[in-house]
Amino acid sequence: MPTNYDPIAALYQLSKQQPWRRHIEAFSFLDLIGDVTGKSVLDVACGEGFYTRMIRQRGAAKVTGVDLSAGMIELARKQEADHQLGIEYQIADALKLSLPAEYDLVIAAYLLNYARDRAELRAMCDGIARSLKPGGRFVTVNTNPAIDFPTLPSYRKYGFEASASGDWREGSPIKWKFYLGDRTFEIENYYLDIAAHEEALTAAGFRNIRWHGPRLSPEGKAEYGDEFWSMLMTQCPVTFLECTRM
Ligand SMILES: C[S@@+](CC[C@H](N)C(=O)[O-])C[C@H]1O[C@@H](n2cnc3c(N)ncnc32)[C@H](O)[C@@H]1O
Repeated sequence: MPTNYDPIAALYQLSKQQPWRRHIEAFSFLDLIGDVTGKSVLDVACGEGFYTRMIRQRGAAKVTGVDLSAGMIELARKQEADHQLGIEYQIADALKLSLPAEYDLVIAAYLLNYARDRAELRAMCDGIARSLKPGGRFVTVNTNPAIDFPTLPSYRKYGFEASASGDWREGSPIKWKFYLGDRTFEIENYYLDIAAHEEALTAAGFRNIRWHGPRLSPEGKAEYGDEFWSMLMTQCPVTFLECTRM
């Protein structure tokens, strides 16, 4: 079953404080997104607005966040009410996205890995493409389809584990367990290979599809050292991707 984020919204938000999130995930993702000054940006699967707020604070002119989870959107709206940035949040299913083609940039952190098959992946990519102006970019961070999840090492020292059991094939579930002090939570997403992603993106009208490995922030390197990060940098279970809508 796809993960229901409503009951784990607050814990998921807390997991964003883990050092690897800041020093690898956010550092690499924001670097790839680049300058957003004056741009209109849509964050699909925005969750509680972790990246949505950052993009607005970095100078985007208009920012919209959408997510399937009412619990996540409630958390995002609460933060917007507490510290108004002018972000609009909506509950929406990325499988049926129908927003006007008015965005310069669409971002998505961990959306495509919720597609259970090629048809769902295509539906997500179509909806994203429909929201973009011609020439607009899509930038995402996602579960890494180049990694063999059944044989992964332990990432416990970074505060999570990722695993898969049974046959490793299209649609196989990938389980993630996060450790936050004495609390844990689990999520599940799905495996589709690189070709499936490129096929869906191309069919949706995207070109210049480029995959990127993780980058480590200079602060993360200075604080923890290369040795600490080496496993995550060489066998990274998340990946980064950019493409352009024709
Ligand atoms: C791992 S969380 C990431 C949240 C946020 N992007 C972040 O990085 O903090 C994945 C999010 O995808 C959302 N999601 C999953 N399937 C979705 C769908 N079909 N449409 C919209 N959001 C979806 C979940 O509700 C959840 O908030």
